[in-house]
Amino acid sequence: MHSLDAYAQDKLASLRQRHLYRALNETLREDGIWVDRADRRLLSFSCNDYLNLTQHPAIKQAAIAAIEEHGAGSGASRLVTGNHPLYARLEARLAEFKRTEAACVFGSGYLANTGIIPALIGSDGLVLLDEFSHACIYAGAQLSRGKVKTFRHNDVGHARGLLAEHRSQHDRALIVTDGVFSMDGDIAPLDDLLALAEQYDAWLMSDDAHGIGVVGGGRGSSFSENSHVAVPLQMGTLSKAIGSYGGYLCASASVIDLMRNRARTLIYSTGLPPASVAAAIAALDLIEREPAYAGLPLEKAKAFTRRARLPEAQSPIVPIVIGNEEATLSASRALEEEGFLVVAIRPPTVPAGTARLRLTFTAQHPDDAIARLADIVREKLLA
Ligand SMILES: Cc1ncc(COP(=O)(O)O)c(C=O)c1O
Repeated sequence: MHSLDAYAQDKLASLRQRHLYRALNETLREDGIWVDRADRRLLSFSCNDYLNLTQHPAIKQAAIAAIEEHGAGSGASRLVTGNHPLYARLEARLAEFKRTEAACVFGSGYLANTGIIPALIGSDGLVLLDEFSHACIYAGAQLSRGKVKTFRHNDVGHARGLLAEHRSQHDRALIVTDGVFSMDGDIAPLDDLLALAEQYDAWLMSDDAHGIGVVGGGRGSSFSENSHVAVPLQMGTLSKAIGSYGGYLCASASVIDLMRNRARTLIYSTGLPPASVAAAIAALDLIEREPAYAGLPLEKAKAFTRRARLPEAQSPIVPIVIGNEEATLSASRALEEEGFLVVAIRPPTVPAGTARLRLTFTAQHPDDAIARLADIVREKLLA
């Protein structure tokens, strides 16, 4: 056998043996919440389409109109000829929404993080990451070639200790954290992290992939009812609550200008298709018009945690940590038998020993189905 296939098969056998093998399952999404998988109709609690906007008629219509007007693809990098006129409209909307001077849209959230961090930090720099930061934040930090240090989850004291020890040996320092943590659903202490960053002349960046559209009246994790934490680098994605595709950074005008000149994932990658950009603009319109609708996923998640007797949800993401991979897979199968799709999340997505069911709640999940799921979880999984 060719050594290449032997290598692949060896790796796969090892993953299977550790219950870490993954397969792509064909999933037909009927609407915002129902899916067809392997000839079964299931109510999905495993989708980041928190506001069900991927299926919203006005948003689909905006995408169709953009294709009619501008074509199916953008044809080149934004720096060449791919910068169709919809980009400027979306960037102005995002900056206004996040109260920053400017914004820059990237091809995806992953491309944003792997472009932004190396554009700010070089080999003499320091990057401090919350240990539960998303994989693409780690990837961006590694690409920067700076020194990477992780602080314990949401532990500002630990971050302070690391800055006290390392900051003086580096020209620039960046602190990066998820705003809403993708696998845990809790929220970063952005106000304390910002104060810490300012104390050590470090820059704070939040990844609000799971915050925009669903917390802070839809504006994200740096906003609450009466206050706003002025995080200087607010990154996020258009692929979750916004229901489209693409990533963004909201920041000062000079930082955004720097991205257009130095972020390699922006410069050397084709611009987003016009349909994705138009859909995102329509979604922002809707969220701004209907902040109460943006609050529904969190309300539904709280109703679930109350009934399942779990700690109160802080976002639409609710983890049920089981620990062992095999047991997590079998819990997921048991819920599937009951008609629910709740995908098992295993290492390396989450730390070893913390395999879990990750439930996501959306605006259109019916209350009676949430109650039934909570009862099953309480009686069968948590008993
Ligand atoms: C916290 C976080 N950041 C970034 C990303 C990447 O965004 P995208 O899917 O747009 O590449 C994701 C999810 O995929 C995420 O959960």
